[in-house]
Amino acid sequence: MKKYTIFGNPVSHSRSPVMQSAGFKYLQLDNTYDKTLLTDENIKDMFFNLGLSGANITVPHKEYAYISADLVVGDAKTIKAVNTYIKQDDKIVAHNTDGYGFVMAIDEFGPLSSVLLIGAGGTARAIAVALKSANIATTVANRTAKKLEFFDMLGVDTIISNDIDTSDKYDLVVNATSAGLCDSNYPMSQDKLRRVLTDSKYVFDCIYGTMTPFLSMAKQLGIKYKDGEDMLLYQGVKAMELWTNTKATKGLIDSMRSALRDKNDKQGEL
Ligand code: ATR
Repeated sequence: MKKYTIFGNPVSHSRSPVMQSAGFKYLQLDNTYDKTLLTDENIKDMFFNLGLSGANITVPHKEYAYISADLVVGDAKTIKAVNTYIKQDDKIVAHNTDGYGFVMAIDEFGPLSSVLLIGAGGTARAIAVALKSANIATTVANRTAKKLEFFDMLGVDTIISNDIDTSDKYDLVVNATSAGLCDSNYPMSQDKLRRVLTDSKYVFDCIYGTMTPFLSMAKQLGIKYKDGEDMLLYQGVKAMELWTNTKATKGLIDSMRSALRDKNDKQGEL
């Protein structure tokens, strides 16, 4: 039996334990997956003291988890934040599977030429790196300038949300801010957002489990929209693949999805 957990603060409402436990069960692995509230302890000591074989890391620890890992693999090196730990011998190997989750979630929209990504936190960083790898023209909009520096360095377009030119058109508009998660805020000025969405083909919100004002606006405008459930699902599927060294089958993915939905009674987080 191997032990896994999700580190976060808060972590009590995380959907990952039900989803990942269902995955282990489907694979007939006698593993456990718990929640661990991480305040100011050392994540690395905690990981080894708990005897873990792997973990997920959620808000607000993804950057700290990146710094604490022994080896960082793949896009996580560019993103500088990780959501998955794997124990290898006496070392922690870290990955970021959020970008993969996003790419899988938007797959049904088909080929995209341009994306407006609203928000500039860790989630937006993972998405921007994935979009850049896919050669999709990306503009990152944030209400303030500081966090846009990362995206300037990455080589994608950036803009302060209030300065958006509403005559520009985007195939897809993404909300990667926390606006609408626990409040009724829009991620940018309601009026500008309406004008931008009117000309877009698709809308995606990284938040799931609640109809955000952002998604409600897309619905009202008759634009195809999607919430963050599949992003959460597929970042977890990729973590499961990494932990078990297997390729996820449809059966595994379906079992994880139905576990996620089964208790989908609260607002969710990655
Ligand atoms: P995460 O790691 O989940 O992406 P984060 O790093 O705290 O979270 O980033 C949150 C993002 O949401 C930031 O881009 C933040 O904007 P600021 O950089 O200006 O703080 C954005 N955000 C949060 N609440 C918002 C709101 N009500 N309206 C617009 N943007 C918001």
